[in-house]
Amino acid sequence: MVQDYSTPQFPESYWRDSVSFENFPKLEKSIKTDIAIVGGGITGITAAYLLAKSGKKVTLIDAGELSNGVTGHTTAKITAQHGVIYNELIEHFGEKKAALYFQSNQEAIQFIEQLIDDLDIKCDFEKQDAYIYTNNVKYIPQLETEKKAYDKLGIPGELTDSMPLNIPMKRALVMKDQAQFHPLKYLKVLLEEALKNGLEVYENTTATDIEHNKEPAILTREGHRISCNKVIQATHFPFHDFEGFYPARMYPERSYIIAVKAPEKFPDGMYINAESPTRSIRSAKMDGEELWLIGGENHKTGQGKPTIEHYEALQEYAEKQFGITDYLFRWSAQDLTTLDKVPYIGPATNDQRDVYVATGYHKWGMTTSTLAARIISDHILEQDNPYLDLYTPSRFQADPSIREFASINADVAKHMVKGKLEYTNHNVNDLEPDHATITRVKGKRTGVYKDKDGKLHALDTTCTHMGCEVNWNSGDRTWDCPCHGSRFSYTGEIVEGPAKRSLDKVDL
Ligand code: FES
Repeated sequence: MVQDYSTPQFPESYWRDSVSFENFPKLEKSIKTDIAIVGGGITGITAAYLLAKSGKKVTLIDAGELSNGVTGHTTAKITAQHGVIYNELIEHFGEKKAALYFQSNQEAIQFIEQLIDDLDIKCDFEKQDAYIYTNNVKYIPQLETEKKAYDKLGIPGELTDSMPLNIPMKRALVMKDQAQFHPLKYLKVLLEEALKNGLEVYENTTATDIEHNKEPAILTREGHRISCNKVIQATHFPFHDFEGFYPARMYPERSYIIAVKAPEKFPDGMYINAESPTRSIRSAKMDGEELWLIGGENHKTGQGKPTIEHYEALQEYAEKQFGITDYLFRWSAQDLTTLDKVPYIGPATNDQRDVYVATGYHKWGMTTSTLAARIISDHILEQDNPYLDLYTPSRFQADPSIREFASINADVAKHMVKGKLEYTNHNVNDLEPDHATITRVKGKRTGVYKDKDGKLHALDTTCTHMGCEVNWNSGDRTWDCPCHGSRFSYTGEIVEGPAKRSLDKVDL
């Protein structure tokens, strides 16, 4: 794909650019299946692989194309080192559950490695040590406390004053034997295997609701029904929560990645810092050449400075730190974090045990999606899984989740009110191409984007999920909701839920 990336204009994921998947038809009629999976990312495809292999009749649908969500826009580090988290997990859950958390993620790495071996998947899988480093003395005690947590939990790791990658640092905590890969090369083979075992796939098929009588049935936007015994919602944000109150129990964040031409050979290791702004660095292979992936700049979705400035900040960092000026790709991802930072995986509620959710991966989706697919398929196949209780979405930890619950919802309430009052009096005719503004049209808050050909696209900025006001995302040319992370294209279509309906168009 030839594009001018010298000043990156197009959000484009290297993973998506280098692998294409087979196209699948849209669902045009009502059907019956055993297991219906909604969402064709790594969770959905891994679950489809496991369940189809066990002889189940599995149908997978996706609202767009397979692997075009978070999975196609990840850093693809396969690690149990999820930032500085283990001391916090011990404090919230106790040592036993914190150890289970580590073990479940470590097993996910081994599972991926074994599958790659068994199926001979060429996906640039490499074992790498994972480093959390800091260049700020204030964070050194945090790393030291985390190391003590590693010791309590039996996690192999050590504190160090030097790393293979030559960047300014004062201290680092290394976790041994983690890994990285090309996620879509891996998934493509899993999908092919699942298809051989009878998996049916439909793309451009949006699930809008789940009806539940004796057994669940998915309703699609076109009015078709998928009758089944079990539903797996692998949609990033559950589109139907059966009063599981997921919007109140998670918050969305965006982060950014640039892929650059290697300025020199990348040493071993995968890196992330402990302080803000986040800087996450790894290498990847591209047709025998090497790319460096530099990521970070996390912020709450729909909030903060213009998003294009986050890409610019990464470019500035790459230039200053490594002298890099050759940018090949850039992309962004959205992640959901739960109240206690542990994902919600399992039956959606205690009353709905045949509808599953897998969400809130807190930016570490490669291991978490894999363990989610395993927990859910084990539950469906009536096999024991030692991690079911730890991840159950029905859990409520009193401390400190309730405080976090209050702060997430106070943030939503603030945006519910504040957003309605924020607009400009710009004359839309003065807009420059590829720019957007929020103004008032006939008294209504209206978002207007002028595309590169000068055409204006005007939308009612009230999010169709629960009524917050969306804001412009200049980096991705989308309208993003600060409350629960729904995102819409500049023509109003849903890019990401939980919203189920497009933004309304406004006549100018
Ligand atoms: Fe919930 Fe917008 S109000 S995503």
